[in-house]
Amino acid sequence: MNELVARMANHASVRQFKDQPLSTEIKQELLTAAQSGASSNFVQAWTVLEINDKAVRSKLGQLAHCEPYVLHSGVFYVFIADLYRQKILLEQHHQDIASLRNLESLLVSVVDTTISAQNMVIAAEQMGLGICYIGGLRNDLFQVKQLLTLPELTVPLFGLTIGEPLSQNEVKPRLPQANQVAIDVYPRQQFTDLSAYDQITGDYYQNRTQNNQQTNWSQKNLAFFKEIRRPEVSQFIKKQGFVL
Ligand SMILES: Cc1cc2nc3c(=O)[nH]c(=O)nc-3n(C[C@H](O)[C@H](O)[C@H](O)COP(=O)(O)O)c2cc1C
Repeated sequence: MNELVARMANHASVRQFKDQPLSTEIKQELLTAAQSGASSNFVQAWTVLEINDKAVRSKLGQLAHCEPYVLHSGVFYVFIADLYRQKILLEQHHQDIASLRNLESLLVSVVDTTISAQNMVIAAEQMGLGICYIGGLRNDLFQVKQLLTLPELTVPLFGLTIGEPLSQNEVKPRLPQANQVAIDVYPRQQFTDLSAYDQITGDYYQNRTQNNQQTNWSQKNLAFFKEIRRPEVSQFIKKQGFVL
């Protein structure tokens, strides 16, 4: 197997880090990786904020219910879908900004932001660092906006905490490719027959070394989607100037 792919297949989120800041050089390299992704029409519609203020970092960790590994890691970034730059540009040229406000522009910025973050993740893991995305920021986007003084047409999507790992989780078995990959047409029956995967994930959850449980992937999803999650996210996005 290709060396990089082998490393990617070994990914597991890290939730315990050395409490030691990453060097400026390493952070610079991580940011270069983030900036090197493809970008829809080259709009580069994202921003990353490095959170160094301990009080803000702690607050963000608390609202995400991940304070220990947001506060104690090598660096904590917040990734933000961002069309504010374009807003200012268009306004300076007396151009209507309706085109920035629509769902398609929001999707463009969300995809660009995600590509940049995952590029950073691959670079970090290639350097032997551990990472954990922190989508828990979306528990309270209004507070995140206030803490980070975010302008219109920005949406904080997730945090990313990175550092020297103190512990390593087991790799979670992914969906069999037969459930996720096909040629030409969508095989409904094949993709939704999860029996083999439930067997694999049942074994995984039962036998993993920490936090073992009697469950499987289907049961996890049934529980996760039992309720509508974070309904106020759409309200926030509208408040930020997008038209859904
Ligand atoms: C966008 C995104 C948001 C996430 N948010 C959180 C989070 O708030 N807290 C956390 O502990 N893990 C978070 N995770 C990590 C996932 O729980 C983890 O990736 C998933 O369980 C698969 O495990 P693995 O990364 O170890 O393979 C997030 C992952 C992604 C991609």
